[in-house]
Amino acid sequence: MTVSADAPIGVFDSGVGGLSVLRHIRALLPHEHLLYFADSAFAPYGDKTEQAVAERSLAIAGFLVARGAKALVVACNTATVAAIRLLREHFPDMPIVGVEPGLKPGAAASRNGKVGVLATDRTLAGEKFLLLREQISAASGAQFLLQGCTGLADQIELGELDSDATAAMLRRYIVPLLDQGADTLVLGCTHYPLVQAAIERIVAQATPNEVVLVDTGEAVARQLARLLEAAQCARRGAAGRLQGYTSASGTALEVAFANLLGLAVPVQEVEIGSKLTDPA
Ligand code: DGL
Repeated sequence: MTVSADAPIGVFDSGVGGLSVLRHIRALLPHEHLLYFADSAFAPYGDKTEQAVAERSLAIAGFLVARGAKALVVACNTATVAAIRLLREHFPDMPIVGVEPGLKPGAAASRNGKVGVLATDRTLAGEKFLLLREQISAASGAQFLLQGCTGLADQIELGELDSDATAAMLRRYIVPLLDQGADTLVLGCTHYPLVQAAIERIVAQATPNEVVLVDTGEAVARQLARLLEAAQCARRGAAGRLQGYTSASGTALEVAFANLLGLAVPVQEVEIGSKLTDPA
């Protein structure tokens, strides 16, 4: 089956976090048409069961494929851990890129082998993540200090990137990692690069040492570009269009596009069933 290069790429997250990945995709692949789905009515994914996250992911992927997507980007670490295998089973011919906490680049960047990992509790408990940690630990000798960040994605969904409450929460999660000697922090949730400026301020207040922050958004965009080339369906020519979808407020997602990416993007509110098998 030949896939039209003009078909869009479907990108999704539990909410606005995936915009931290979308900005790299737009920068690297400006000709591609993009569909972005924010599942904000079900955010955060980080405190849901693995099965609930997998079901939402399958339903959203089904929606995006029905809208003609030629490739999928799971712009969410939590959904990747919970659902990437299932997604590849359901859509075996489709290029699918997931996001994993950057343990490998984190280990490579660290000078003392102590790497803090900030992620959702669901990601850190996932079998796929534990396996990755074991592999990278064994290969690099790095020690990973794991920190689940309950409530942080909610703050970011609320648009509280700079509030005192968000800063206090970040301090509570980050300072203990620095106290244990971490010289590298992996941003293992796509929401967290959106508060990178606040994280940098807190790190600078807490330690005079240089601390490297690892975000995998750009690597995800590069992997997507490779898969599109391999499938011979990369789009060339005029600039691509971007369409937003959300399971919650359309206005909220429009505001997020404007504030986080400086873009005016049309957004449609949609209701989708939890499972592909749902009649809805
Ligand atoms: N942005 C997501 C991630 O990368 C999920 C955050 C959440 O919904 O808890 O893990």
